[in-house]
This record gives sequence, structure tokens and C-alpha cells, in this order.
Amino acid sequence: MHKCKQLRGEIRVPGDKSISHRGIMLGSLARGKTCLHGFLSGADCLSSIECFRRLGIQIEREGEEVTIHGRGLYGLREACGLLDAGNSGTTTRLISGILAGQNFTTGITGDDSLRKRPMKRVIEPLGQMGADIRSADGFLPLTIRGGGLHGIDYISPVASAQVKSCILLAGLFAEGSTSVTEPAVSRNHTELMLKGFGADIRTDTKRHYSCIRPGSQLTGQDIIVPGDISSAAYFLVAGLICQDSDILIKNVNTNPTRAGILSVIEAMGGNIDYIDRREVSGEEVCDINVRTSQLHGTVIEGDIIPTLIDELPVIAVMAAFADGETIIRDAAELKVKESDRIATVSENLRAMGCDIRPTDDGFVIEGGRPLHGALIHTYKDHRIAMSFAVASLAADGESELDDYACVDISYPGFFRDLSGLCGKSVKHF
Ligand code: S3P
Repeated sequence: MHKCKQLRGEIRVPGDKSISHRGIMLGSLARGKTCLHGFLSGADCLSSIECFRRLGIQIEREGEEVTIHGRGLYGLREACGLLDAGNSGTTTRLISGILAGQNFTTGITGDDSLRKRPMKRVIEPLGQMGADIRSADGFLPLTIRGGGLHGIDYISPVASAQVKSCILLAGLFAEGSTSVTEPAVSRNHTELMLKGFGADIRTDTKRHYSCIRPGSQLTGQDIIVPGDISSAAYFLVAGLICQDSDILIKNVNTNPTRAGILSVIEAMGGNIDYIDRREVSGEEVCDINVRTSQLHGTVIEGDIIPTLIDELPVIAVMAAFADGETIIRDAAELKVKESDRIATVSENLRAMGCDIRPTDDGFVIEGGRPLHGALIHTYKDHRIAMSFAVASLAADGESELDDYACVDISYPGFFRDLSGLCGKSVKHF
């Protein structure tokens, strides 16, 4: 990949990954037909579809259109053999909550990366609710013997939408109410969608609290999946750091529990405008225009972290091109993502000539030095690949990624879309 002279034009990013997963899950548990329009056909969401098919749900997909023939809360059937969640932490942790409520036993596993990711964070609360879960010492594969759940009031040690969602989904099948209180607000798509499907759920955002009561049937819905801000993030940063750039990103989900990157861009002096703010299937959406900007460093810490956790690799890239120091802290969760992102971001930015210091819970980046091309080690982490594809476009000389295909996890058309904005193919093999 080479430096790009300018990035110009319009782009529509694929559907939101978190919402696509949840649409498959709630659609499977609902009575009747659920249609998802704009579904993300990335490998992670296809893993969710495959798991629910294995649990007896008929799901049809034609590109971005998905139809789920839900069989009601108690309509899943025991799968034969292990479910495979592939690379997807969201599939694994959310489905665990659902499986904990079933009167049968299910095994679930995943790829090499997923088998290294911590599952105690869901095993423990589900165990407190009465589920019997065996694991490989807190890691996949899990064997979940479900049924007989009772509600709990869970104080979560971590702000994680996957943990919160797992417990709330188990709460659909528990006796009595189930609540989760988090140290900070995490993405709230599960709560919004559960409400839309007819569940009895209430939230108190100020207290970072959600509570679900069982007993309501879920009813199939028609859902328009908005564009994923985590995918838009690569174009936001590319437009800001590449010379002479001007990009319009259409149809971006700007749910405040996901949109921390927008506040960071504003704090760093980015030229950004929001056009035609609207609501789509209960989510905030707008088009976003970004232009090349003289950025400066900032401090990113505290409650904003869960609202931009997946964007931190590309935010680190942006900080490398900003004048002065950027400090990112309170983000130790980066260590347990698809790769240890504190290590993988630091290694690759350093290889490109950036002055970056990893810390226990983030980075210190001295920005403003010109970066040069390098061989990027992606560790097959889709967000590392896309973040460093963007860095390569703004750096001098040539870069190469050791794996391009991993972007398929969340954004199969990424290089095509990036090439469209550059006016030429960005990929070299
Ligand atoms: C997700 C929650 C986040 C995020 C992940 C998707 C979700 O994970 O990093 O990509 O859809 O609930 P954590 O819950 O582990 O923070």
C-alpha cells in the first residue's frame, strides 16, 4: 500500500455488527417473522446465523436481506455437536445467556483467537443465576446445561455490552427480575432492541443500570440496520489525516453509547459535520462529512472508553498524525480483544516510526512525526488490519499487511471501498 494523494467521494458503510448479531438472536426467540434490512454479511454475523440454524431456526439470507422464522422463547432445539462461533466474541457471550435458559445442553467453541478470550466474565454471573457451565478453565469450549434460572442483581466489574447482554438475555428465561449495573455505560443495542420486540425492560442510564422481567413474549420485527460507526471510523480517520481529502460517509449509527470517537475527533480539532440527523429502527443515524485537518493531541480516559473501545486502534493512528501528546488510559480491555490491541497497535505504530509507549491500560503517543511504510503484523485482527491500512495511506513509502483477508470478519468490501475513495486500487500483493 502507498501514500494516497487524496481521498474524495461518498461512501455507505455496511450494517452495524452489534445490531446484526442481536437481530438474529432476538428474531430467533421471537414469534413470527423478523426481517433485517442492511444486515452485515461479515464472517462474525454469519457465525451467529449458523449457530441459530443449528438450534433449529430457519434463517434465509440474500446478501443484506435476512429473514428469520422465529419459534418463540422456547422454540430452540438441541443442536447435534458443538456450535462454532468462529472469531466472534459477541456470538459466544450473547448466545451463552440464551443457552443458559434452555432445557438442554449445548457445547460451543471457536477459532484460535476466540479460544484465548476470557469467558469467566459470563460463566460467573450465569452460574449465579443457576446455570451449569463447564469450560476449559474459563476459556472455550463451553458446555452449557441450561434451565432452572433465577434472577440476580449483578454488579459487573467491567463495562461490557457482551456481559450485560448475556445476563439480560438469560433474564428472559429466569424466575424473577434480573438487573445489571455497570461501572460505565456500554452500548445499549440489546436494551433498545429487546424493548422493540416487546420485552419488559427498563434502563437508568445515569446509574448504568438495566433490568429485565420475564413473562413477555417477543414478536417478530422489521428492522433496518444502520451503518456501523466502527467501520465508518476508518474513513473518518483517513479523511482527517490524508492530504486534500473530503469524504461524505452516509447512514452512520451515532447512538451515543457508541459514538465516543466523534467527541474525540472534535476535541482533536477535526473538521467534521453532521448532516440530516434522523432515527432509524430506534437508533440515531446521520451522514458525516470529514475533511483534512490539522489535529492536536488529547487525553482519552474514563467513561468515554466503552463508547469507543473498538475504535481505539484507529484513534491511536489518528493520534500519531496529530501534533503533540495523546494519552489513552482506562482501556485495559484492549488486551482481551481479537488480539492484545495494546501490544499490536504499539508494535505496528512503532514499526512505522511513531513514538508510542504502551502502558498497562492504554498508550502514550507523541504525535506529529512523519510515519514511514512498514510490514504490518495484523495477528489476523480485522481492526488492526483496517487501522493500519489507513495509516499506510498517510505514511511515506510502501507498507504491506501480512494478512488482508481478516477484514472479512466485519467488513468484507473494505479494500474495494477504500480504493473507490482513493481513485485507484490500494492493495498490492
Ligand atoms: C460488542 C461489545 C464490545 C465490543 C465488541 C462488540 C457487542 O465488547 O468490543 O466488538 O456487540 O456487544 P465488550 O462487551 O467485550 O466490551
